[in-house]
Amino acid sequence: MLTQAPKGTSDILPAQSGKWQYLESLFRDICSRYAMKEIRTPMFEHTELFVRGVGDTTDVVEKQMYSFDDLAGRNITLKPEGTSPAVRAFVENGIYAETQPTKLYYITPCFRYEKMQKGRYRQFHQLGTEIFGSASPMADAEIVSIAADMFEALGMKEIELRINSVGCPECRAKHREALKAFLADKFDGLCDTCKGRYNKNPMRILDCKSKECQKLVEGAPMMLDYLCDDCKDHFEEFKSIITDMGIEYVVDPWIVRGLDYYTKTAFEFVSTKEMAQGTVCGGGRYDNLIEQVGGPSTPGVGFGMGIERLLLLLGEEGIALPEDEGVDYMIITMGDEARGYGAGLARKLRRAGKSVQMDMMGRNFKNQFKYANKIKAKNTIIIGEDEVKTGSFSVKNMATGEQTSVSADEIDKL
Ligand code: HAM
Repeated sequence: MLTQAPKGTSDILPAQSGKWQYLESLFRDICSRYAMKEIRTPMFEHTELFVRGVGDTTDVVEKQMYSFDDLAGRNITLKPEGTSPAVRAFVENGIYAETQPTKLYYITPCFRYEKMQKGRYRQFHQLGTEIFGSASPMADAEIVSIAADMFEALGMKEIELRINSVGCPECRAKHREALKAFLADKFDGLCDTCKGRYNKNPMRILDCKSKECQKLVEGAPMMLDYLCDDCKDHFEEFKSIITDMGIEYVVDPWIVRGLDYYTKTAFEFVSTKEMAQGTVCGGGRYDNLIEQVGGPSTPGVGFGMGIERLLLLLGEEGIALPEDEGVDYMIITMGDEARGYGAGLARKLRRAGKSVQMDMMGRNFKNQFKYANKIKAKNTIIIGEDEVKTGSFSVKNMATGEQTSVSADEIDKL
């Protein structure tokens, strides 16, 4: 146990962290083009926030939260998602009183006690975006466009945007009744979970993974057919804007999303390959959430993109992210004096922004060379007695073998 990470968690090892940093900085870069600002919220919140925000009939709240009492008896939950904490911060800090919209992004670990499988973990990481304060379908379109930009920048082709509208509480109530009526004589055939959902949240039955339930919902009434005029107009405008933006999509009337706060637009980016966990990004609009957690009535829209799933899909498509490029210089030294001189030179180069390695394992000259190859040093600098005396040395370009002589006063030019 002592040397085993808890089930559903993984270390991001030095050999992989470069890929993570690459994805994170690409995401930051794309978000900044949309004038989004980063928000960092705590790893844990009062449990009540997620019960109210995500919804107490969702799988996340019913079965998957890491909740505990702290030493003062407060009920605390490790964040299972990033939207509710961002909303809480928006309300608590009075950001709603500033000029709107508020455009946010975050990179955060999330925690859900899930059944472990490929692409489904207990600690996973999300790249997330939220726009608060705009009810316009322009906001939905910008959110979708950020995710589309990410996939395009990564060269991903086998991915599809699926969109739907889950309506507002008014039109959803009508759909709910129609759905219940449709399922009434099929109730006995539903799985136990869906029997529980029938009264509490029948729309979630449409999303059940059980084959029996999937059969029973065939031909069920679709939310799209029940949209009120306002929700219908919003959906039409959203489609028209993303079409103008050059973003391809398919309408998938069966997208219901696993969290309760959604209204109107719901969308997912899904792998076109047959995969167990092919949904790499999910999001949508949530016009009642901010009010529900105690803020003024404020619309919102956003997405969460799973970094682990993104890496899985990149692997499936055979897309390699830029590799570790190796250090700029390895300084190879012979003797104590040379080592001191080399250390001084290394510091100068590092201050000038170069990456430099020196031996600290007591390797002999030959092994320092071997090590330089292993760490993919782009250049080597050899320092011996002569170099210390004259202050000059030669730099060898490891790719071309070309050697350049550098005198002491030329170091700044390296
Ligand atoms: P979500 O669909 O629950 O939405 O999660 C978003 C993404 O996080 C998923 O599409 C998936 O890539 C990743 N993900 C979720 N659970 C796991 C897991 N157990 N293991 C690995 N990856 C996972 C939300 O969380 C919403 N907060 C998204 C949102 C933001 N909606 C509006 N704004």
